[in-house]
Amino acid sequence: MKTKQLIENEKKYLMQTYTQPDMVLDRGEGLKVWDLEEKLYYDFIGGIAVNALGYCHLKVVEAIKNQAEKLIHCSNLFYNEPQIILAKKLVEISCGDKVFFGNSGAEVNEGAIKLAVKYFKEQNKDKHTIIYMKNSFHGRTIGTLAATGKYKYQKDYLPLLPKFKQAIFNNLNSVKEAVNDQVAAIIVEPIQGEGGINIASKEFIEGLRKLCNEKDILLIFDEIQCGLGRTGKVFAYQYYNIEPDILTLAKPLGGGLPIGALIAKEKVASSFKPGDHGTTFGGNPVVCATAIAYLKVLQEENLIAKCKEKGEYFKKKIEELKEKYPKFIKEVRVIGLMVGLEIEKNGSEVVKKCLEEGVLINCTAGNVLRFLPSLIVKEEEIDYLIGVLDKIFKKI
Ligand SMILES: Cc1ncc(COP(=O)(O)O)c(C=O)c1O
Repeated sequence: MKTKQLIENEKKYLMQTYTQPDMVLDRGEGLKVWDLEEKLYYDFIGGIAVNALGYCHLKVVEAIKNQAEKLIHCSNLFYNEPQIILAKKLVEISCGDKVFFGNSGAEVNEGAIKLAVKYFKEQNKDKHTIIYMKNSFHGRTIGTLAATGKYKYQKDYLPLLPKFKQAIFNNLNSVKEAVNDQVAAIIVEPIQGEGGINIASKEFIEGLRKLCNEKDILLIFDEIQCGLGRTGKVFAYQYYNIEPDILTLAKPLGGGLPIGALIAKEKVASSFKPGDHGTTFGGNPVVCATAIAYLKVLQEENLIAKCKEKGEYFKKKIEELKEKYPKFIKEVRVIGLMVGLEIEKNGSEVVKKCLEEGVLINCTAGNVLRFLPSLIVKEEEIDYLIGVLDKIFKKI
C-alpha cells in the first residue's frame, strides 16, 4: 500500500526523467537490498558503480557520523581538513599533482574542459576545440552533453556548444583526422561504461598519448565509472603504458555521497587561478571524510586484488553461459568487475525478468546487459546471478 501511494506521488511531484520499476528501495547491506515490501534483491548494478563497498559499509557510516558531528559544511571561503587530506591521498595514488573537488561526474568533466581551455589561454594559444568519442558518456550538462557521443541524448538540445568534434573509439585514424591547430584536448573513457563496456585497445590509448604529445593537445581520461578499483587496478590508465594530463573521478569515491574529483598535472593545474572556477558544495567536509574512508577500506580490505580475482571468476562463469547460448549471447566483455554481456536483442526484457527473480541489473546501449557489482561481491552471489540468467535465457 505504502509503495503504491509513494509511486503515485512520485509521478505527481517529480519530473519524469527516469524509468523505474514498481518498487521502492528501503535498506541495504553488502550486496543485498530490500524494498518496502521486504522483498530481497541482489544488486549487480551497485548504484551504477557507486556502491563499490556495498550498501552501508560500517566504515563509511562511521566516517559520515563522526564528521557530521564535527563540521558539516563551511564553504570554500575557508579551509577544511578532510578536503586537504583527501586531495593529498588522491595525488599520492594517482599520476596527478593537484585536485579540484566538485559534486558529480558531469561537474568535474566540465571543470576538465574549462581547465584545458584555460591552459592554452594562459599561453595565448587559440586552442579550444575538444575531441570526444562516439558512444562516449561524459554527463548531461550542456558542456558535457556536447562531448557525449550519443545522438539520443543530444538531439533535443541542439544546437549544442560548437568546438566539440566526434571521433571513433578505438580508431586512431579517425582521431588524427579530427585534429587541427585549434584542438585543446581529447577526452576519452578508457573503458566506455554507458557505451556498453567497450575496452580501449592498447594501440589506441598509446596512439592517443603520442598524438597529444606531438600536437600539443591535453589528454583527459574520464575514469568516473571505471576508476578507483573497479577494473582491478586503482586506475584504468594503469593498464596502458601512459598517463593522462587530466583525470576525472566520481562515482565510488564518496562511498555513496556525491563527489567528483578533477585531477591534473601541475603544469596544467596551475593555470586555474583564484576565481577561475568554483562550487559551493565541492570538497564538503563530510563527503571528503567519507571518501578518505573509502580509500582506506580499498587498501585495508585488499579490494583491488579481490576485484581482479572476483572479476576472473565472473568472466569464467559468464563465458560458460556464452558457450551454452552461443547465438543469444553475442559477446562478453569483462575487465575487473565491469562486465558487459552483449545479447542479440534489446535487454529490457532480461532486466525485468531479473528483477522478478530478485536480481538488479541494467541494460545499456540497447542490448548490453551491464553488471557493476560491489567489489565485495561473493562467489556464491555471482553463482546466484548466473543461475538466474541461465533460467531466463532458457525461456527466451
Ligand atoms: C564515464 C562517465 N562520465 C561521466 C558521468 C556523469 O556523471 P554524473 O552522473 O555523476 O554527472 C558518468 C555517469 O554515468 C559516466 O559513467
